[in-house]
Amino acid sequence: MATRHFLSLMDLNREELDTVIERAIELKALRAQGITTEPFRDKVLGMIFEKSSTRTRVSFEAGMAQMGGSALFLSPRDTQLGRGEPIEDSARVISRMVDMVMIRTFGHNVLERFAAHSRVPVINALSDSFHPCQLLADIQTYVEHRGSPSGRVVAWVGDGNNMCHSYINAARQYDFELRIACPEGYDPDQSIVASAGDRVTIVRKPEDAVRGADWVATDVWASMGQETEQHQRLKAFEGYLVDHELMSHANSEAIFMHCLPAHRGEEVSAELLEDENISVVWDEAENRLHAQKALMEFLQENSN
Ligand code: CP
Ligand code: NVA
Repeated sequence: MATRHFLSLMDLNREELDTVIERAIELKALRAQGITTEPFRDKVLGMIFEKSSTRTRVSFEAGMAQMGGSALFLSPRDTQLGRGEPIEDSARVISRMVDMVMIRTFGHNVLERFAAHSRVPVINALSDSFHPCQLLADIQTYVEHRGSPSGRVVAWVGDGNNMCHSYINAARQYDFELRIACPEGYDPDQSIVASAGDRVTIVRKPEDAVRGADWVATDVWASMGQETEQHQRLKAFEGYLVDHELMSHANSEAIFMHCLPAHRGEEVSAELLEDENISVVWDEAENRLHAQKALMEFLQENSN
């Protein structure tokens, strides 16, 4: 058995993803009943954060504690990572001391280099290219509210960013139709789009993506690391607000997701975000906890 990593949604096959989602739903129910399992007793998760986080940090740290283990928060500001120690050296050292590592970073290659030199499973907790843990939570949320996403129509409205790339991978894994509406110049990576074949189409008008959709998702227009482009992006994304009017073009049963944090009045209206008949963002955020606990269990059980 080799060491399994989770750098993108493609690192698990469809059957494995189904197992993780089912287990996430089960762990959520067990937690609601006050039943705990402690498969991580005496285990430690190293958490490397090169970018800010609320949900990811709290869900991994709380999840590890709930499973009997503990988590170490490692910031480049107070480790040698911020002083230029090579990733490969850090990976070899840290992975001899902890049992699993999660990394939130900029370039995706940092994760790949770390994983290549790690003795223990490495989890992508967001890179500039992908945010696969968020997709586990999003899929769990869709399954809980509407059943299997397979064969559905999903609309992504906004930036062709890390979240959009992970939605493309989800379209490949779950075989749903993904329509991406983004302004010219903000398309997702062409090779990632191409990998999904005819499951993914790119349009310019949000209505064209949302028409008849079962699931509508968006994200901020300027991601972490793009702060200096904020002003230019506000102009480029004019007309891409997801609100009740846009949702009126979707299937009447459609639900809305956003990984959060949200910028009310920019990519999503405050009214839609708060409309719990359509918006499932709070369940989606909570599911980070359950989905990642299931993921960590899976990686531990399937690695040596
Ligand atoms: N959605 C998400 O990853 O949130 P954080 O940046 O707060 O971790
Ligand atoms: N696309 C956003 C997601 C935040 C959870 C970012 O990378 O900042």
